[in-house]
Amino acid sequence: MANILVVHGPNLNLLGKREPGVYGVVTLDEINEQLRLLAVELGAALRIEQRNGEGEIVDIIQSNADWADAILINPAAYTHTSVAIRDAIAAVGLPAVEVHLSNIHQREPFRHHSYIAPVARGQICGFGVNSYLLGLRAACAYCS
Ligand code: DQA
Repeated sequence: MANILVVHGPNLNLLGKREPGVYGVVTLDEINEQLRLLAVELGAALRIEQRNGEGEIVDIIQSNADWADAILINPAAYTHTSVAIRDAIAAVGLPAVEVHLSNIHQREPFRHHSYIAPVARGQICGFGVNSYLLGLRAACAYCS
């Protein structure tokens, strides 16, 4: 069984109410429920964490390094700013899949660059909740 650490970054706890024109009306609980259902189908175990703080996300990655086989992460705004999260992913050496609800490449120029992408196996964006579901499939594929 693959162990997948799912990390949601800042402000994703507000999904459902937050800029629905950009992120839709699906809540984080609903995303997590869909991930759990798919994980059963794929035979994966999930640990799901949401944090607003950059250092807290680094701590979550480090503290799950021995348990996880792969990381599924939506770093949210830290995608575009965080050397620390990038370094944490590189340091633990686990395959990581970067996901975004929105297509960051169609949005403001400051969202086009990801500090995470160079240390991720790949990036999936623009498909709403399906970005997460496709990302979970990709993460599991790296564990088989
Ligand atoms: C996001 C895109 C980021 O640019 C933004 O800061 C977010 C959410 C997404 O899932 O589309 O908070 O990661």
